[in-house]
Amino acid sequence: MKVIRSIAELRNALKEERAARPGLAVGFVPTMGYLHEGHASLLKAARQSCDTVVLSIFVNPLQFGPGEDYETYPRDEQRDLAVAEAEGADYAFLPSVAEMYPSPTKTKVTVGQVTERLCGASRPGHFDGVATVVTKLLNIVQPDRAFFGMKDAQQVAVIQQMTLDLNLPVEIVPCPTLREADGLARSSRNVYLSEEERKQAVVLYEALSLARSLAEADRQMTAEELKRHIEAKISSAPLARIDYAEVLAYPSLEPVGKLAEAGRVIVALAVKFGRTRLIDNMILE
Ligand code: PAJ
Repeated sequence: MKVIRSIAELRNALKEERAARPGLAVGFVPTMGYLHEGHASLLKAARQSCDTVVLSIFVNPLQFGPGEDYETYPRDEQRDLAVAEAEGADYAFLPSVAEMYPSPTKTKVTVGQVTERLCGASRPGHFDGVATVVTKLLNIVQPDRAFFGMKDAQQVAVIQQMTLDLNLPVEIVPCPTLREADGLARSSRNVYLSEEERKQAVVLYEALSLARSLAEADRQMTAEELKRHIEAKISSAPLARIDYAEVLAYPSLEPVGKLAEAGRVIVALAVKFGRTRLIDNMILE
């Protein structure tokens, strides 16, 4: 695995590899590091369907709001490189902030509509930061396929819409959410949880599972009714504070009425435990 920190060097290396191996399929997994099984599953998917796999690790300041955890976001470069190597990445790209943003960026990518609700509403500017950095990374790597986790389902919807609208020559591959044994979705932020918070955090998965069984049992139920059941379930965990719990059409993220008439819906949660904000979701067909 080659560890590369400069944009020019990565471009050159990939250019040479493409010239030497015509038809080479390049897979790309963008991350912010502190790699866990969820990230590893994306690398595995990329390894399976591509000839060369590029992983990026970049904690992108643009997608953090004031008062969020940019400074304290967990980082462990040595461990990340070991995980990346073990998962068969060919290139680990770790640019500095100065390399990615040598001067304050005057251009940003804003995706409309799908960014209006959920994390777009609770974290203003977040998805501009994500869409902008992902556009930059896609331009640097120029992959054939890029792999994203459904753990961040709104992010997938945003990236897919952006790819469509801007004719980006890449296939976006959504991958399933990896969970701990008790159902908690794997996340770099889980390390922030105290022992008691970690125990109670399973309520997100329990609420999603409850939503699935209630929806299967009564398709005449409205999204609003389902949302009230989910909120009651989450409130049963004393340390949980709901940021949002929503039932929306997916991937449009528009409001829906009766589930039976809605098609594909997402049950999406953001719940705070102390200062830690966890998100999770389930898609109901
Ligand atoms: P990060 O939170 O590091 O996540 C990187 C990728 O891993 C994302 O596609 C995310 O959805 C996926 N992922 C995280 N937890 C997962 C899990 N439990 N199961 C499966 N996949 C999981 O998302 C970002 O970074 C950034 O916004 C980024 C796209 C890199 C842009 O800065």
